[in-house]
Amino acid sequence: MATPWDRAAAGYVEEWVPRFVPYHLDLIHELALSPGQRVLVASCGPGSEALAAARAVGEGGLVRATDKSEEMVRVCGDAVKRAGFARIAVAVADASDASGGPWDAIVCAFGLWQLPDRASAIRAWRGGLARSGKVGILTWGPPDADDPFEVLAGFLAELEPGHSAPRPQIAAQRDQMAAMFESAGLAIVRHTVVRHVLSFRTAEAFVKALREACTWRRIWEELGDDRLDRIAAKFYDTVGGPDAPLSFAPPATLAIAAQPGAEVELAHRPSVRVPPVG
Ligand SMILES: C[S@@+](CC[C@H](N)C(=O)[O-])C[C@H]1O[C@@H](n2cnc3c(N)ncnc32)[C@H](O)[C@@H]1O
Repeated sequence: MATPWDRAAAGYVEEWVPRFVPYHLDLIHELALSPGQRVLVASCGPGSEALAAARAVGEGGLVRATDKSEEMVRVCGDAVKRAGFARIAVAVADASDASGGPWDAIVCAFGLWQLPDRASAIRAWRGGLARSGKVGILTWGPPDADDPFEVLAGFLAELEPGHSAPRPQIAAQRDQMAAMFESAGLAIVRHTVVRHVLSFRTAEAFVKALREACTWRRIWEELGDDRLDRIAAKFYDTVGGPDAPLSFAPPATLAIAAQPGAEVELAHRPSVRVPPVG
């Protein structure tokens, strides 16, 4: 079935993936994957974190990368072929599909906000984990008022009250994340905020990337060029004009959870006893 990400896939790969790779590498590093392990990458998109996981688990390991968008899965499959990895299986599947386990790690980068029923997806992941397996997620947030995504969303709300920008943040404070995992029977063992600089040659290049490459595309298609240009013009006024270079470092929350009582390995911590929940 077609999804809005099918049309955005090419632009997402070109504009956003190279900028998001440092976040993906943080997540894979924090999970302390070992050679030979088995990893499920849910909502893999074009697969940058799946390739990083495959490098960490080596030829003796296995990665299954899934996404609901057929086009994202096709693009991911091409990247896997180009990289020459024989041990990555790529498939169209909902994020809540944890079949094929037990998994040493289940990874979801920037995908949770798209899931209408996060709790049941995380419960399914718990069911697919090996005893010492970990769920590792990345999500945008906590919110940052100066973040250009937020600024543009604010102008959209002001000028086009009937339309709203999809918010990629979910409640990401430590206690909120702990509660989310606990409702699925998992305990949080790592919670940290990471930032990396995203640079654009000009503010105009940022707006172009945003409207062609992700869910803003739908808004652009609904509003048309003229109305979106009015929103962009207000944005350019706040950042020094369309030709001004744009650099910002949006916060992302990285969290890892595991089964209560299990012993797990994290980066720089070879043995962590997972606390009880509740
Ligand atoms: C922001 S992209 C993240 C892609 C990739 N993980 C990354 O970090 O670059 C969100 C992805 O979630 C996928 N997605 C949305 N809803 C989904 C669902 N219910 N099950 C699986 N994938 C889903 C989209 O197709 C898209 O590829």
